[in-house]
Amino acid sequence: MGIAKLLGVFLVMEMTSGFRSGADGLSMGYYSMSCPMAEFIVRNSVTRALQADPTLAAGLIRMHFHDCFIEGCDASILLDSTKGNTAEKDSPANLSLRGYEVIDAAKEELEKQCPGVVSCADIVAMASTYAVFEAGGPYIDIPKGRKDGSRSKIEDTRNLPPPTLNASELIKMFGQHGFTAQEMVALSGAHTLGVARCSSFKNRLSDAVDPNLDSGFAKQLTKTCSAGDNTEQPFDATRNRFDNLYFNALQRNTGLLASDQTLFAFARTRNIVNGYAFNQAMFFLDFQQAMVKMSTLDVKEGSKGEVRQNCHKIN
Ligand code: HEM
Ligand SMILES: *[C@@H]1O[C@H](CO)[C@@H](O)[C@H](O)[C@H]1NC(C)=O
Ligand SMILES: *[C@@H]1O[C@H](CO)[C@@H](O)[C@H](O)[C@H]1NC(C)=O
Repeated sequence: MGIAKLLGVFLVMEMTSGFRSGADGLSMGYYSMSCPMAEFIVRNSVTRALQADPTLAAGLIRMHFHDCFIEGCDASILLDSTKGNTAEKDSPANLSLRGYEVIDAAKEELEKQCPGVVSCADIVAMASTYAVFEAGGPYIDIPKGRKDGSRSKIEDTRNLPPPTLNASELIKMFGQHGFTAQEMVALSGAHTLGVARCSSFKNRLSDAVDPNLDSGFAKQLTKTCSAGDNTEQPFDATRNRFDNLYFNALQRNTGLLASDQTLFAFARTRNIVNGYAFNQAMFFLDFQQAMVKMSTLDVKEGSKGEVRQNCHKIN
């Protein structure tokens, strides 16, 4: 095939994908020539992992969020600490991130099929969207072409929101990354999956019990916490199912983190919560769009990054 023909095929693929290459260098068909199996391989790794342990869906989507909010979506979250540097993942704010082995398995297979082509940042992004879909959530098609970064510092994790923030602080923090209040609420809906440990919410149970906390639920949480700081409590009744029950829980004042319940306490975000609790399709649509946006935060393209051979260390 001549170059012109190759280019033709590529252009058609780009056009039919409905997403043109952006200024950030990302595109839907980024690997269609260089590693056509890329998405399939990542998806396979996620599917297999979730069959063995469905709770990993939560781990994978949270990993992508933490990656993107610190230094952009550049797989900085995957880098191990080295002699002179403590990495993001070793911060207390890594807060029990899980699913690293799913990324490693996909990377290993990708390096066999098309060595040096698919970035770790793209693997994390793809894995998180498949995890959402496998858990019953919307199908999210994201552009690819992120490059891996080289900076991963424990102090950068202060850019992650702590669970004690109120809605106006959350609006401000997400606003700094270009998100609207509505997008922030939609993204918080990821808490339809997974659990938090007692250490993340026990402050709500001390002397002055959080007034936004249902009293029956507070008793249940106190019981959970009596088993220790690391005891897990699901965010909603269906911890492995991506649905809108998280928003229904907020309406009943049974949101788990202070940062969850605050979304219902504030007039400005309460309407959005009510909308998503009432209409799951609307939540799915907004979540899908907000995830595409999150997946392109501050991405490194071209020479600003590399494709790591091993996701745990820079080349
Ligand atoms: C709005 C601000 C947010 C705050 C303050 C927050 C905070 C937290 C905290 C404290 C935990 C529990 C950690 C633990 O105790 O082990 C957690 C879990 C989780 N977060 Fe968030 N988060 C926020 C937004 C997000 C976003 C935007 C996503 C993804 C799009 C996300 C996905 C998750 C998931 C899936 C879990 C469960 C993890 C598991 O079960 O392993 N969170 N979050
Ligand atoms: C998270 O950080 C703690 C230290 O705060 C560390 O002990 C733990 O191994 C880290 N977890 C992961 C998965 O890297
Ligand atoms: C949210 O928290 C900030 C900082 O603690 C505080 O200044 C603000 O008054 C709080 N907002 C409301 C409405 O409680």
